[in-house]
Amino acid sequence: MKARRKQTAPPPPEAGEARIAALLAEKRLFKASAAFRRQANCRDPNVYARSARRPLEFWAAWARELEWARPWKKVLEWKPPQAKWFVGGKLNASVNCLDRHVRAGSRRRTKAALLWEGEPGDRRTYTYWDLYREVNQFANVLKRLGIRKGDRVAIYLPLIPEAAISMLACARLGAIHSVVFGGFSAEALKDRINDARAKLLITADGGYRRGSVLPLKQYADEALAACPSIENVVVVKRGGQEFPVHIREGRDHWWHRLLQDAPAWCPPEAMDSEDALYILYTSGTTGKPKGIVHTTGGYLVGCLATTRWVFDLKEDDVFWCTADIGWVTGHSYTVYGPLAAGTTTVMYEGAPDWPARDRFWDICERLGVTVFYTAPTAIRAFMKWGAEHIQKHDLSRLRLIGTVGEPINPEVWVWYHETVGGGRCPVVDTWWQTETGHILITPLPGLTALKPGSATFPFPGIAAEVVDAHGKPVAVGGGYLVLTRPWPGMLRGIWGNPERYRAAYWSRFPGLYFTGDGAKKDKDGYFWLLGRVDDVLNVAGHRIGTAEVESALVDHKAVAEAAVVGVPHEVKGEAIAAFVTLKDGTGHYDELVEELKEHVVKKIGALARPERIIFSADLPKTRSGKIMRRLLRDIATGRALGDVTTLADPSVLDTLKGRYAEDAE
Ligand code: PRX
Repeated sequence: MKARRKQTAPPPPEAGEARIAALLAEKRLFKASAAFRRQANCRDPNVYARSARRPLEFWAAWARELEWARPWKKVLEWKPPQAKWFVGGKLNASVNCLDRHVRAGSRRRTKAALLWEGEPGDRRTYTYWDLYREVNQFANVLKRLGIRKGDRVAIYLPLIPEAAISMLACARLGAIHSVVFGGFSAEALKDRINDARAKLLITADGGYRRGSVLPLKQYADEALAACPSIENVVVVKRGGQEFPVHIREGRDHWWHRLLQDAPAWCPPEAMDSEDALYILYTSGTTGKPKGIVHTTGGYLVGCLATTRWVFDLKEDDVFWCTADIGWVTGHSYTVYGPLAAGTTTVMYEGAPDWPARDRFWDICERLGVTVFYTAPTAIRAFMKWGAEHIQKHDLSRLRLIGTVGEPINPEVWVWYHETVGGGRCPVVDTWWQTETGHILITPLPGLTALKPGSATFPFPGIAAEVVDAHGKPVAVGGGYLVLTRPWPGMLRGIWGNPERYRAAYWSRFPGLYFTGDGAKKDKDGYFWLLGRVDDVLNVAGHRIGTAEVESALVDHKAVAEAAVVGVPHEVKGEAIAAFVTLKDGTGHYDELVEELKEHVVKKIGALARPERIIFSADLPKTRSGKIMRRLLRDIATGRALGDVTTLADPSVLDTLKGRYAEDAE
């Protein structure tokens, strides 16, 4: 007789410093177990060569997994930098995420589509059927409020099921959603609503964060004072809040009231493959965020393919991507990818350390999460908090873990593999961007031998290179990361600004998409991402343009000039240091430091709060007046100063160095 299997795996070993160092020193490749490889969705190594030979056939095969109202005539039309995928095809994203899973004969009708948990501990489960009904009803609500194909709808919600329902209801009607992260300020919301000229806003009375409530409707009201395009506001009652919620008659409507008598079925709009599905704003190198436009067919194909192969999802998996719906990761891997794949997707409203530092692991255990996807900044925090919070829980159901958003340090990777993954779960370090729509550089967990810290190889069908300053491919060594062929989920432009699209992505290396990232390729062809090479910071996995923070600072009445740089941060990866010149001279005003930080929070949101503000009578500039951020970065990181010969007044640097050191004490 076979020995009885143990019900639960032993707690994962603690990956202490010595063990991490030993594992890294071995320089071994981390391979999935034979059992994992045998069951993997993608286990044929020829897939790379085959897809490289015939990329269009590769993507067309994935497209055939979706349901089309009309088949496409041509897979790709490429007039650089404009791509059209699945030309002539028609489909609807909500049909692909919902209807086809609830049809007669589908076993997914009663399967959990969405497992949601609120920060206070309230829980909701939506089957595919439940989600289908609510999306249909809410689409009818939007329709009654005058929303039609092509209209823009802004969504400013906490991470609650209504966020996904709103997105899918827009998709059903062919309205373009623009989700604005709930942590953004009223001003940031206002700018995004106005740029897209949104007709309707969906928000909530509030949302929970670390035990307190963010008064979202209050922020929305502040924003709406200067948003002439908004005709109606739908307000979700998250419930239980003590502060008053102002409802403006005629403009504001409670979600639950509208839903009461909404018809249960709403015919889906057959969208052209190239019709816009959504706009999502992200930071660039200027003060004004870019409205990245994604379309329907190619985007869904890319999301589906990567969800199936990178996360290896099976019918009974429970997939938790911890990103907020306000970021692209939440769009592609909480909503569109997992639902198109018919998976159970998890959503949690609140903070990872509320009410205690084991909240994520408690959720993983209780909901039986099998595939877990988070950001390095979170993993670094978990590591700092200690393994005991993880070891308290039975995580034996986890079989695959992933990361996204920033480079992951090899030590953190190994810790994640050992402590969260119990040494048995492959780690997929996935590189992509808001602009790329879906994962582009990533391991395939059943095939790829992993190197801690490397995102490994381009996904099949994706062509990426590291190039030198002249755009020539580097076989081994460092340079700039570019994409050399169009891919299905690529952005189709910047909302209302075609010139910026061309300039930002296609002008640095003609004919190639420039990612803005530095990367290196090792002798085995592995890609190692090295972070941004432009004036974009990555703070706790969030993209923030230095120019945005600078213009927020300069907006303050006391500030004459500001220059912002990123400095390494143990948990956040990067933190913001701001060098500020005041209008009335050289003084160091302690009380102003807090005021300026708050001012940035008010203009952008808490995610952009500077870690340090250093006052200076002058900033290092070239003779033509350009601020030399490179030198500020050297000062802020304590590095030896680079070339200073182009500086107009080199004495500025000594004063600044002194100030920075003083401030640190
Ligand atoms: O610098 C890269 C970094 O995040 C940037 C994209 O940020 P965003 O558009 O906000 O999207 C984040 C989630 C998709 C990239 O230009 N980045 C993303 N993933 C990785 C990464 N850097 C290193 N390794 C990654 N896996």
